[in-house]
Amino acid sequence: MIDHILEELESAGFSQVAGHLAPEILAPLGAFIDDHRGEFRPAKVGTGDNRQRVEGIRGDETYWLDPLTRAAPFGAVFSFLDELRARLNERFYLGLKQYECHLACYPPGAFYGVHLDRFNADSSRSLSFVFYLNESWNSELGGELVLYTKDGGERARICPAPGTFICFLSDDFPHEVKPALRERRSLTGWMHTKLIT
Ligand code: OGA
Ligand code: MN
Repeated sequence: MIDHILEELESAGFSQVAGHLAPEILAPLGAFIDDHRGEFRPAKVGTGDNRQRVEGIRGDETYWLDPLTRAAPFGAVFSFLDELRARLNERFYLGLKQYECHLACYPPGAFYGVHLDRFNADSSRSLSFVFYLNESWNSELGGELVLYTKDGGERARICPAPGTFICFLSDDFPHEVKPALRERRSLTGWMHTKLIT
């Protein structure tokens, strides 16, 4: 599996794996979100003093995770990310030191307009990744992740189907999240070339 992801990252800059999380891993993650939904907070954009809530840009609510906690139900996800980080460093010498991640819920109609995950003031975000945690999905519900090339062409359109995993080079793909008819759930994160404080 990781070999396949590395091949695709090398040739295309992104990789998508449908059904990457098995139902028995997905179900407890969904239950965790149900239990903690009231603790999700409106997401912000920007860094440092520039962080602000801008609903016209992004309407999701997030719950940050501590990757150092290996507690259920995140064990399998973090083990996979640890291995992916090690293999990326081995193969591409990326020097990825750490990753950060949050759970994200987009209420019906919420979206995240076209953006780059790499901040101007901080170039340490190198790989973006998303696991979709929706129990079921179909294309009529919307909520796609659309990746663009830097000259504005559409490169890929990913349906947030249960257990799908996608990762892409943060600097190479402007992208957006389309509004959906239903709440859209994910675990989203970034691998960094420096330690995050
Ligand atoms: C993000 C993002 C993509 C997705 O949180 O920066 O682009 O499919 N998420 O949820
Ligand atoms: Mn993004």
